[in-house]
Amino acid sequence: MTKPRVFVSRIIAQEALDRIAQSTEMEVWPEELPPAYEVLVEKARTAEGLLTLLSDKVDTNLMDAAPKLKVVSNMAVGYDNINIAEATKRHIVVGNTPGVLTETTADLTFALLMAAARRVTEADNYTRKGRWKTWAPKVLLGQDIHHATLGIIGLGRVGAEVAKRAKGFNMKVLYYDEIRRSEEEERQLGVEYVSELARLLSGADFISIHVPLLPQTHHLIGAAEFAMMKPTAVFINTARGPVVDQKALYEALKSGQIFAAAIDVTEVEPISPDDALLALDNVIITPHIASASFTTRKTMALMAADNLLAGLRGETPPNCVNPEALRG
Ligand code: DGY
Repeated sequence: MTKPRVFVSRIIAQEALDRIAQSTEMEVWPEELPPAYEVLVEKARTAEGLLTLLSDKVDTNLMDAAPKLKVVSNMAVGYDNINIAEATKRHIVVGNTPGVLTETTADLTFALLMAAARRVTEADNYTRKGRWKTWAPKVLLGQDIHHATLGIIGLGRVGAEVAKRAKGFNMKVLYYDEIRRSEEEERQLGVEYVSELARLLSGADFISIHVPLLPQTHHLIGAAEFAMMKPTAVFINTARGPVVDQKALYEALKSGQIFAAAIDVTEVEPISPDDALLALDNVIITPHIASASFTTRKTMALMAADNLLAGLRGETPPNCVNPEALRG
């Protein structure tokens, strides 16, 4: 029996590749940078399965070119790089990797929050540049984290874990979400619901975004929203870049409308080295590393392998975003 052809768009954990190779004819893209879109389309032409990353665009055009495609397994919890409606129409199941990266992402969110508030990267640069001459009473002052108010936009899995971390710092936690949690959950997490985004934006010292990228969350935070924030506010985004209008973020930081920001995601990834944002001292930008711990990335790779293999067998992947693709 011929084995199904699969294309894996980057080198992932060897254990996951070994698992896939046992029952497929596997091709792995060997380079550090992703395959160009045209290359991915070419690879998809004969593939029954694709294992993709969030930098790989799986759109209508690609699916048109891939008549044998049964499964797309995305090694990420987010799947805004894939046209799910088109996949479902064509009975292509799509897998993702929820749960396993929740706490790792919350850890980085909190690290960024603290680093921006206390100017950790700026202070490190200050030391390296030989500017540390003495203990100085007014140099590199930042914002207190303890007893401050944190506003979480989107209290899903990651948002809830960020709230738990905030409690350890005696923070007051407000949240805004389309769906309100039960009173019991709010009590357990120690969070207070606000029904209007504006109230969260004007009342919080720290604002952290945890919503998926959807048409309705595109530029959820723009000039009007930054204008509502306190001049001492610290803004964090570890969700998706296009949720924030990056030009508006730049203006807010440059003009001192807000104190600082720390972002792990940008509107276009990677951010251009010439981007004006990179010239500002009051922003920290990390290269989309929220899930980047050894353990989590390996677990994500294994989950993605299992989703891929289940889809190839004609089964619903253990973590599937469109199980309806196999119905009817
Ligand atoms: C995801 O999984 O969606 C993150 O953005 C990357 O780990």
